[in-house]
Amino acid sequence: MIEVEKKEIKKIKTFLFMTSKGGCGKTLCSCLFADKLLSIGKFVNIVDVDANQVAQKWVNKCKDLGRVVSYPLTLKNSLNPNQNIADIRIVDTPGILGSYLPYLKKNDKDNLFIIIVGRSAESDFEVNEELYKDSDLDGFRDRVYFLVNSYSDSSETQKEYFEKLKKLVSDYDNVSHILSPIKYRWGDSYGYSDFLKGSDKNYFSKDSKNIVAKDLKETMKELLELAGVES
Ligand SMILES: Nc1ncnc2c1ncn2[C@@H]1O[C@H](COP(=O)(O)OP(=O)(O)O)[C@@H](O)[C@H]1O
Ligand SMILES: [Mg+2]
Repeated sequence: MIEVEKKEIKKIKTFLFMTSKGGCGKTLCSCLFADKLLSIGKFVNIVDVDANQVAQKWVNKCKDLGRVVSYPLTLKNSLNPNQNIADIRIVDTPGILGSYLPYLKKNDKDNLFIIIVGRSAESDFEVNEELYKDSDLDGFRDRVYFLVNSYSDSSETQKEYFEKLKKLVSDYDNVSHILSPIKYRWGDSYGYSDFLKGSDKNYFSKDSKNIVAKDLKETMKELLELAGVES
């Protein structure tokens, strides 16, 4: 029985969000993606392995407000046998490079997507370049997708590092592994300032007060495609 369950968990599509450091938007992006999946009727399992527990706090706050955003992977130990179980797993990791390693072993490779969230800047680029070039452990590189966050195409420096990122992945024939970047948006109705505080409404739902920015829509669409889910 346990063996069967283990096998099934390995097959659940897992999106692991990582960076070389904190504050890049991993938690924001992972929870937004969870909300996007929920908005189209999917059930997600959110795993927060960061000691800061920001994603877990989002899960808890939404629950306090009456909205379940994370579902179990199995009904083992569940008090409610009618509960929905998750079809996609999202893992939010701390800003530590090796945090993806256990998941290379825990998952079937085809079901693992490592989303590296970072800014289009020298410091992030250099760390990611080194990691990407040096590490092809267990097919790591083919599992990596880059998500540039807080992007501004009016910044020449950011544009330059975005081009460098494209060049880096094209050296390995992975051009499609750069996701559409997410712009920096704070206090306006497009902004993310309140998102991680939790809400009784899905960010992407029509009755939410937020307007979903065009760039975010595009990124979410691409992530859904990776998940093999129709929006
Ligand atoms: N594109 C963005 N626009 C505006 N604020 C952002 C954006 N990305 C992240 N933030 C904010 O920056 C802070 C750090 O983001 P967070 O997701 O917690 O980073 P990490 O998980 O990588 O440490 C949070 O307050 C988050 O809401
Ligand atoms: Mg975080």
